[in-house]
Amino acid sequence: MKVTVFGTGYVGLVQGAILADVGHQVICVDVDADKIERLKQGHIPIFEPGLDSLVKEKFAAGRLSFTTDAAEAIKHGDMHFIAVGTPPDEDGSADLRYVLAVASTIAEHMESDKIIINKSTVPVGTADKVRACVAEKLAERGRNDLKFDVVSNPEFLKEGSAVADCQKPDRIIIGTESADTVELMRELYAPFNRNHDKIIVMDVRSAELTKYAANCMLATKISFMNEIANLSERLGADIEMVRQGIGSDPRIGYHFIYPGVGYGGSCFPKDVQALIRTSDSIGFDAKVLKAVEARNYEQKTTLFEKIAEHYENDLAGKTFAVWGLSFKPNTDDMREAPSRVLMEALWAAGASVKAYDPEAMEETQRIYGTRDDLTLCGTKESALKEADALVIVTEWQSFRAPDFELLKQQLTHPVVFDGRNLYEPERMERKGFSYYSVGRRA
Ligand code: UGA
Repeated sequence: MKVTVFGTGYVGLVQGAILADVGHQVICVDVDADKIERLKQGHIPIFEPGLDSLVKEKFAAGRLSFTTDAAEAIKHGDMHFIAVGTPPDEDGSADLRYVLAVASTIAEHMESDKIIINKSTVPVGTADKVRACVAEKLAERGRNDLKFDVVSNPEFLKEGSAVADCQKPDRIIIGTESADTVELMRELYAPFNRNHDKIIVMDVRSAELTKYAANCMLATKISFMNEIANLSERLGADIEMVRQGIGSDPRIGYHFIYPGVGYGGSCFPKDVQALIRTSDSIGFDAKVLKAVEARNYEQKTTLFEKIAEHYENDLAGKTFAVWGLSFKPNTDDMREAPSRVLMEALWAAGASVKAYDPEAMEETQRIYGTRDDLTLCGTKESALKEADALVIVTEWQSFRAPDFELLKQQLTHPVVFDGRNLYEPERMERKGFSYYSVGRRA
């Protein structure tokens, strides 16, 4: 099938690549000329396992192309994905400016019938807005003869496993009232819908809400566990035992019940906030969501509080090795990353940071530039040198089994603050460390 994808971010680029991979003919459009030029030259703007080779391969095979020319791209596609950003505006509600700009561009240039597919995470009611926008533009052009449908088809990929998630989706949600559209969408996704039927067809508004409900449910699990972790610390219990104890109940499950330093990234914080704003806008008090957000906000300061307490609030002149800067492993994304809250609090208290991350060093440099109280280190070992303590913020695999003797030698004092519970407290004590983790006895 002929597919056009608007937006070459995480969602658009991955979607374009995997559709090209199964034989569709895909054009990706972006307004960022520099990005498009770099993509054509094989420079993939994000770190995502498997994406680089997939994009290059499909580009070379002529099945995936990149352009800034929206008119040409609209001429090409029968199916048009909208996969542009929906950043939070000042009050936290999703800003639909880019989504509606794409809708308007499609209406401006379309010369044949089109299916418009909302892939971006958008509030309930957005498909109606897109529909109205396209209809209005077509009327202006005097082209009411052209037919189109607007489908909600939310994306559930996770950063760090985006390609695999898209190639093997748990479910494919299709929100539309049109049986013809369902048939076309089934054809488009047929290569991903083998073994058993993963397609769930529903009305547009339910599909739009499904996306938010999924992310908010997962965020709720995390905030709930962080709350129980805080309680565990105060009650002398061990959250890791409690986690295993409750996860063994299949109704609860082991996924997304890891306590830590709060959820970050481009999705959970934004989506929880957007659903709260949507609720407020219709006069509904979303009490659970507000609590989920408040708990997460506080959880991001938990490591700093433990550090401040250990040093009796005297952090001026201290140096901390920080391992893990991205909001989670296997990505270089630092949006809403707990590491930022930590580093900024340490700097405000007069401390310095020696930072290391396997992928996010460039991103850290881009965000913070050059400053006296930040040293970007090329290896995890070099970050330790002469630091007063080690702070672990992200659970990269390479941090799980460090050389503890070296750690002791390099740090001025054997002190570890672990925001991800990577080590056993008793073993750390036996090795002579002062070890602080989350939700466990110190
Ligand atoms: C999330 C969802 O998991 C995807 O299904 C969804 O498609 C995506 O948002 C989106 O809306 O685009 P992502 O933000 O990439 O994906 O990352 P997750 O793996 O879900 O992690 C989010 C945050 O939760 C991370 O900061 C992670 O450290 C934290 N987390 C996760 C915990 O603190 N504990 C857990 O048990 C799990």
